Amino acid sequence: MRLERAIERLEMVPCLRFGHRPTPIEELPRLRAVLGGGPRILMKRDDYLGPGFGGNKVRKLEYLLEDAKLRGVEVVITCGGEKSNHARVTAAMCARLGMGCVLVLNPAARGHAGLEPANLALDRLYGAEVHRVAGRAERAATMESLAEEYRRSGRVVEVVPLGGSVALGALGLVAAAAEVAEQLRAKSVEIDYLFHCSSSGGTQAGLAVGRQLFPEIGRQLIGVSPDDEAGAIASVVGGIVRGIGERLGFGVGELDERVTVDDGYVGEGYGIPTPECEEAIGLLARTEGIVLDPVYTGKAMAALLGWIRAGRLAEDETVLFWHTGGQLALFYVPEGGV
Ligand SMILES: Cc1ncc(COP(=O)(O)O)c(C=O)c1O
Repeated sequence: MRLERAIERLEMVPCLRFGHRPTPIEELPRLRAVLGGGPRILMKRDDYLGPGFGGNKVRKLEYLLEDAKLRGVEVVITCGGEKSNHARVTAAMCARLGMGCVLVLNPAARGHAGLEPANLALDRLYGAEVHRVAGRAERAATMESLAEEYRRSGRVVEVVPLGGSVALGALGLVAAAAEVAEQLRAKSVEIDYLFHCSSSGGTQAGLAVGRQLFPEIGRQLIGVSPDDEAGAIASVVGGIVRGIGERLGFGVGELDERVTVDDGYVGEGYGIPTPECEEAIGLLARTEGIVLDPVYTGKAMAALLGWIRAGRLAEDETVLFWHTGGQLALFYVPEGGV
């Protein structure tokens, strides 16, 4: 009863319908064959969602920007790295809504002389106002001072936190779990392991709640870190799960806030591809014609391949890998060129 009411509440929350749904679930038989067996592998193609070149951020922003629109927000301010997918999709969706978009961006982990990340060029193309800061630590204060400036000039401003990873944004991934559950029912498939990349926590929090509402989406949810230590991500995810619980009418402690995060595939740090990540990107491209990204999904796929090769997943099990997008991080354009 509690679960049914939660699903009803979720359906009542206003959200934009910019993304193309349902995104497909595809089977990866050639990858499985190259691996010499192991579990059946399926992939949820959220890279095909659409707006701003797609990815998981669309699902969060559909809730966050609809809420902002209903409150009369005129300018949205958010932050990330120069290759941020969240920043790019925010810029694209704000353009479509006729809202101003201000981005506070710190340098990418790796630069190339005379070139800039395609994501950064697209931010400007979508009409966003870009402010560069020297490092991650400066982002929050810069967003606040820009917000203050805009407010003083009489504009209605909203600061969207990093990655849109707050309970309202994460509802997009709870709804995505409902979408997947319906797709799996139609295929008569149940998932044993759901793998995805987990960083600012909203995706994992939404899927963790979604899994409690729709258990067929995965017996176990494995978030793979591209940057931070597992305990730090798990604790942020737990907080967002609590916030989702409040929004969906669960009492304190009714939702399980514990999640599994694997931080064994980070390598040297955020945005620095590991040899395993590069191998995963090449293997998926050659076997299935699917492109992963070097910051998030490449590392998440490296983890899945690592688990399979270590015999941690059985032949009769099924894995769903969530492709959260981000492939534009592979590309650079001439500085100021677009
Ligand atoms: C392509 C991609 N995958 C996965 C993630 C991780 O999602 P989350 O920040 O919700 O943990 C992000 C964003 O950080 C992303 O851009």
